[in-house]
Amino acid sequence: MAELAIRGGTPVRPQGYPSWPVHDERDVRAVVRVVESGNWGGFPEPGPNAAEFESRFAEYQGAAHGVLMGNGTITMEVALKALGIGWGDEVIVPALTFAATAYAVIAAGALPVIVDVTRDTWTIDPGQVEAAITSNTRAIIPVHLAHQMADMDAIASIAARHGLAVVEDCAHAPGQRWRDRGAGCIGEFGSFSHQSSKILTAGEGGSLLTGDEQLARRAHSIIDCGRPKDPAEREYTFGANYRLGELHAALLVTQLDRFPQQQAERAENGAYLEELLPTVPGVRVLAHSDRITRWSFYRYLFAIDPDQFGGAANERVVEALEAEGIAAEVQYPPMSRYDLFQPSLSRLPVCVAYADRLDPAKMSFPVAEAAGGSESVYLGENVFRAGREGIEHAVEAIAKVQKNAHELMG
Ligand SMILES: Cc1ncc(COP(=O)(O)O)c(C=O)c1O
Repeated sequence: MAELAIRGGTPVRPQGYPSWPVHDERDVRAVVRVVESGNWGGFPEPGPNAAEFESRFAEYQGAAHGVLMGNGTITMEVALKALGIGWGDEVIVPALTFAATAYAVIAAGALPVIVDVTRDTWTIDPGQVEAAITSNTRAIIPVHLAHQMADMDAIASIAARHGLAVVEDCAHAPGQRWRDRGAGCIGEFGSFSHQSSKILTAGEGGSLLTGDEQLARRAHSIIDCGRPKDPAEREYTFGANYRLGELHAALLVTQLDRFPQQQAERAENGAYLEELLPTVPGVRVLAHSDRITRWSFYRYLFAIDPDQFGGAANERVVEALEAEGIAAEVQYPPMSRYDLFQPSLSRLPVCVAYADRLDPAKMSFPVAEAAGGSESVYLGENVFRAGREGIEHAVEAIAKVQKNAHELMG
């Protein structure tokens, strides 16, 4: 008889994990208040809930200013535009991230220059960043992937030496801290997503954080059809309507009330997982940096050695974990597998103009390709909200799939 649930065996955790997002009467009341106020949209920008969230989230993360908008893709586009980056400029991004990171660069009119990630954290490789700098380079977008953070010491030092801006893609990193500085508070801008799967969510939304008042004003202006944001500044910025409505902003306020407690719970359970997981054969735990001084565990990323999983790659292992009742997924392919850059598909002027440099067939990112192609497994955020037993079940299931991996084949 088969052992693995995917083959008809008994699942490790048939009851699954807590659902997401967490909500109760407080969220309902917040939305009802907005409905009754009649002030549903984001104009005048920012609305009262948006303004409250902007200042409270910025303070929580450790930035002087927050700018709330429609999602965590346009945040990066707006950040680049606010920095004056556009046509003819180059922005360095990692090869292992959601397509949005590179798309935002293209949407701002610049060329994404993609470099590989390091094997120990699967975040942008500082050595490759330095090697990719040209006279056209203007910015770097490090991505804090899953529970990891990019090496912000190295990135900040490269940026300072070459006069580049840094926009941190923190879609996964609310709550995280690097040497006691909040994610998104080290570069010129930090970009956050509040889309459904993220750990500070209203279903949709995105935040920019910055320490620079003028950059904040410019970002506010760009998302509000270019309206000037300082009475002394009469001219309009080049902008459009990227505002977030008040219904979503109200939900972000109630979700932020819960966030610190959720972060502490995930951090505690995440630390327990890091104790147990290295005992499983065939599993490689990514480097644990003491420079990350607060952890949030938006999903947990680890590597499998397919040879020790009966030759099965990550997709099959994830299917088996899901059948055991463990929230798991593969997530991002390497950038070389995204269709985003195909001029015939995107028709974006930058893709056409730089067809040669954005041709996926000519891209090679061995580390990101191994990670996305066969090694990377993400555990869901809810695994970290089910106590020590939830962690023990996840580790038990991974060990069970590894031990019985021969059942995965065929
Ligand atoms: C790393 C990363 N960057 C950017 C984004 C884009 O965020 P949004 O979906 O809010 O546009 C995401 C979200 O999926 C992401 O995972």
